[in-house]
Amino acid sequence: MKLTELASALSIPPSKVEAFGLFLTTLVCLVFFAKTQDPSGATKHLLTPLEDVADEKLEFNKMFNNGMVSDSELVGDVVMMTCRDMFKGLKSLVEVGGGTGPMARAITHVFPEIKCIVLDLPHEINTVKEHICLVEYVSGDMFVSVPLANATLLMDNF
Ligand SMILES: C[S@@+](CC[C@H](N)C(=O)[O-])C[C@H]1O[C@@H](n2cnc3c(N)ncnc32)[C@H](O)[C@@H]1O
Repeated sequence: MKLTELASALSIPPSKVEAFGLFLTTLVCLVFFAKTQDPSGATKHLLTPLEDVADEKLEFNKMFNNGMVSDSELVGDVVMMTCRDMFKGLKSLVEVGGGTGPMARAITHVFPEIKCIVLDLPHEINTVKEHICLVEYVSGDMFVSVPLANATLLMDNF
């Protein structure tokens, strides 16, 4: 799709098309989009799946994780302050797509009796250097299998 066609499909006024092109270029630089050409030579923009980017670019993966971790630590503390009762009585919990596990760590900090498992993709789990004793890290794909537990937590704090 050409830039003008995309802008038109998104109802972007012609006066803003140039700025929109610059915005897309920024996203390309941040590797969220790939810029390619179709057989006619026209420029095309393709959405790059973030997980592919994170898998290939270790530096990006590190930066992305740090952002998620600091956010999740805050969210974890707030959840434990405001609605910790929903975790009472659980013996095990699996956090799907839990990244490096800040939320699971917040839970085990308050409920050390809950066995917390963090499931995430290999590129994510491989960055976990030390396995915090109460949290078990499992490398895998949630669309293939999820470890069994009393409860499943799927959190996306974006
Ligand atoms: C937006 S992050 C959210 C991380 C964390 N739950 C949070 O809220 O901070 C999404 C997470 O899902 C993981 N993920 C994506 N696809 C997955 C899959 N098929 N199986 C397991 N984890 C996956 C990513 O690696 C990433 O850590």
